[in-house]
Amino acid sequence: MDKKYVSQAVLQNILQHTDIGIHVIDENRRTIVYNKVMAQLEGLKAEQVLQRDLLDIFPSLNEDTSTLIKVLNTEKPIIDKTQTYINYKGQKITTVNSTIPLFWEEKIVGALEIAKDITYLKRLSDQLMDLQRELKCNNHGKYRSKNRIKNYTFSDIIGKDENMIKAIEIGKRASNSPSTVLLYGETGTGKELFAQSIHYEGIRKNRPFIAQNCAAIPEPLLEGILFGTDKGGFTGAIEREGIFEQANGGTLLLDEINSMSWELQSKLLRVLQEGYIRRIGGIKDILVDVKIIATTNEEPLESVKKGTLRKDLYYRLNVVYIDIPPLRDRRDDIPILCDYFIHKYNPLLGKSVIGIKDDIIQYFYQYSWPGNVRELENSIESAMNYAPDNRRYLQREDFISCHNIFKDEDIFNLNTLNMERPLPEYLEEMEKDIINRTLEENKYNISKTAKKLGIKRQTLQHKIKKYNSRAK
Ligand SMILES: Nc1ncnc2c1ncn2[C@@H]1O[C@H](COP(=O)(O)OP(=O)(O)OP(=O)(O)O)[C@@H](O)[C@H]1O
Ligand SMILES: [Mg+2]
Repeated sequence: MDKKYVSQAVLQNILQHTDIGIHVIDENRRTIVYNKVMAQLEGLKAEQVLQRDLLDIFPSLNEDTSTLIKVLNTEKPIIDKTQTYINYKGQKITTVNSTIPLFWEEKIVGALEIAKDITYLKRLSDQLMDLQRELKCNNHGKYRSKNRIKNYTFSDIIGKDENMIKAIEIGKRASNSPSTVLLYGETGTGKELFAQSIHYEGIRKNRPFIAQNCAAIPEPLLEGILFGTDKGGFTGAIEREGIFEQANGGTLLLDEINSMSWELQSKLLRVLQEGYIRRIGGIKDILVDVKIIATTNEEPLESVKKGTLRKDLYYRLNVVYIDIPPLRDRRDDIPILCDYFIHKYNPLLGKSVIGIKDDIIQYFYQYSWPGNVRELENSIESAMNYAPDNRRYLQREDFISCHNIFKDEDIFNLNTLNMERPLPEYLEEMEKDIINRTLEENKYNISKTAKKLGIKRQTLQHKIKKYNSRAK
């Protein structure tokens, strides 16, 4: 079989079976490829479009508004542009499009457009925005609600550790200044708690507090959520204010700032420097006064080095920097936090627990707490659910679903030692376990782990190889 036919068959199949819409025009603006998905998106049939001039099929478009023609003229690609339009069947569709010029021997021969349907996601994000607005209206301009979600203040942040007290002090000072705050802490260390405390204990407490996770929303929609959209933007676009406008006078918490795209980070920087926003498709500059609190669960300078956080934005955000230590670096806070959560859950669960048995606290001290305070809180809530109503001190059997904390139980508990195995094998298992645990506690950094274990780097590397352990 001629190889040319095989590659044509492969191409045909890819075009017709992908879930991405594909539209190609030649240098005379005539459609030469129009796949099934594109036909469905635009509500047309391939035979209505193929071999015809683009502007005959889409009379509402012109040289400026058609991305395919624009790319043909400018010979420059347009990447990841969100478009909302009413298609030929009257359906409202939102797509993310990329349009690319096609060259043959350095001469432009056409343009290719690929479109991804995100209508469903767009609908969800619009609903989210409307709900947020509704919530704001129902509060009659007062954003501090009485019986809705609890608003945290600094008295809700529990901890006596020196670095924790330092972080709280910086937070308190930050609450009375308009400066941006950069919060760094692993998951579950209390970043949201800090952000809310800074807002609700500060001068902006009667203005809105809006939180947005930058990692949870697909990139093309995030820009609209932040800055809003205007009618002029594209056919069918709705006028909608973004969260910068909704949070005006208040605080905007931008979670996981390092997941935001490079381009959007640069737009955010411009807004922070200039103090006004422009809705997508809008022509008006709208002044906004918003205090920004950005969070990240990766060391910010590490993110800058890796290229996930722009250096210029980092400097702009880093006016006040708060580093919340992980729980394993402040183990003396564990008993105080346990006490706090027991008292929090007693009335909620109808229990009268007084404390936790000592042997459990010992496990708590040696565990690495990758989920930090959230993990500790969840463990206690879970144990209090399992405990019988008359339980005074939580004990091992109550923590039935907390396997991680007790994963070393059998190895380290000499009472349950299985002496059927030879001692060297048993000791090796212990060694492997201690190494793995210390590696995990030190984020797989070999130098730090070796130092903690009191052995040479080379010795550790040798053992890592032997036990097949994870290392950076
Ligand atoms: N110091 C603390 N004192 C009391 N409760 C705390 C403390 N730190 C965290 N918590 C509790 O732990 C849970 C997680 O906290 P929070 O949501 O603020 O963490 P986070 O750092 O934002 O986590 P993520 O990065 O996963 O979003 C919450 O229920 C919070 O109340
Ligand atoms: Mg959070």
